[in-house]
Amino acid sequence: MKNILITGGAGFIGSHVVRLFVNKYPEYNIINLDKLTYAGNLENLKDIEDKPNYTFVKGDICDFEQMKDLFAKHNITGVIHLAAESHVDRSIKDPFSFAQTNVMGTLSLLQAAKLTWDGDFTDKLFYHISTDEVYGSLDNGGFFVETTKYDPHSPYSASKASSDHFVRAFHDTYGMPTVISNCSNNYGPYQFPEKLIPLFLNNIRHNKPLPVYGKGENVRDWLYVVDHARAIDVIYHQGKNGDTYNIGGFNEWRNIDLIKVMIKTADRLLGRPEGSSEKLITYVTDRAGHDLRYAIDSTKLKDELGWEPSLQFEEGIEKTIRWYLDNETWVDNITSGEYEKYYQEMYK
Ligand code: NAD
Ligand code: DAU
Repeated sequence: MKNILITGGAGFIGSHVVRLFVNKYPEYNIINLDKLTYAGNLENLKDIEDKPNYTFVKGDICDFEQMKDLFAKHNITGVIHLAAESHVDRSIKDPFSFAQTNVMGTLSLLQAAKLTWDGDFTDKLFYHISTDEVYGSLDNGGFFVETTKYDPHSPYSASKASSDHFVRAFHDTYGMPTVISNCSNNYGPYQFPEKLIPLFLNNIRHNKPLPVYGKGENVRDWLYVVDHARAIDVIYHQGKNGDTYNIGGFNEWRNIDLIKVMIKTADRLLGRPEGSSEKLITYVTDRAGHDLRYAIDSTKLKDELGWEPSLQFEEGIEKTIRWYLDNETWVDNITSGEYEKYYQEMYK
């Protein structure tokens, strides 16, 4: 019996990973540890919460004593670590909480694993989920590969880079079995509406301005979240000890082009003349230190472990837009109170 700790499982990507593992591996115990910050939402897991191989624990990865108790109580043999502060704009306003959660929280988990496993690393694995943002920004050519030099620019990416270094240090120093993956931008159901796609869909629905940073020329490489979860499954089971894998969709979009696709599709589904919501586009002051372009080369993952995205972008984005329009209650429940305060401060 494998007892796998998934941290941040109530968040956007984490909930898809928990769902996949709980459904696909009834013989594993899946323990979802989440602090339930503003970004964590147990509504994301309603469909699997009663499964016998699933346990939810509310807790904080920074609480070292709690993490040690958790490892011992559940006899944890594997970790898939997703818990993090994940939004770049918030990191610009409050870098301390990013260092605390992403760096100190990761270190606390690593140390709890090390003490519990006590040098017996047979059938153990610490899998750390990271981001392509650690590699910095590309101009108009080339891709990030696994050996690209780290060059983070935002407090968020600096904290993720630091946590990656700690994971590698535990592998090199203590022999802990580890693996890291660095993924591009995810999209799909259950993403908190502070990120581009769900934020803009919510604003289109309410006829609110669409705040495009700078000229909208920044480029991101978008991957459907379920394909990221599938990659995590493959890497967890077949990844080479101590190795790194890049995950991406070879699917680059300039923000403004993606926004126009969203507008066209949402207008059609909302019964509005196609493109009529383009009038909501509002160019606003650029994000500080805004990385121009991210583009992941995931050839290694394809060649070595046979993973490829399963969904074409056209299908994935239509599915995603339909989901947000069909799940108004999910969106409305998390866009009241604190969210409204964040929104006013961020976009005043
Ligand atoms: P998210 O913000 O939606 O979810 C983060 C989850 O972590 C939430 O459920 C939150 O409650 C939990 N959490 C935060 N602090 C915690 C703490 N101290 N203790 C326990 N739980 C805590 O994030 P996401 O977009 O799902 O990203 C998940 C991971 O994937 C992150 O590590 C992120 O860096 C990485 N990542 C994200 C993307 C993306 O496009 N969203 C791409 C590549 C990598
Ligand atoms: O690349 C992976 C990263 O992708 C993850 O590590 C992060 O956790 C995740 O948040 C995401 O970071 P980005 O900064 O790329 O995502 P975001 O959705 O915040 O922004 C996408 C692009 O859209 C970016 O160029 C900024 C722009 N943008 C974003 C918002 C929220 C706008 O123009 N206006 C906005 O209001």
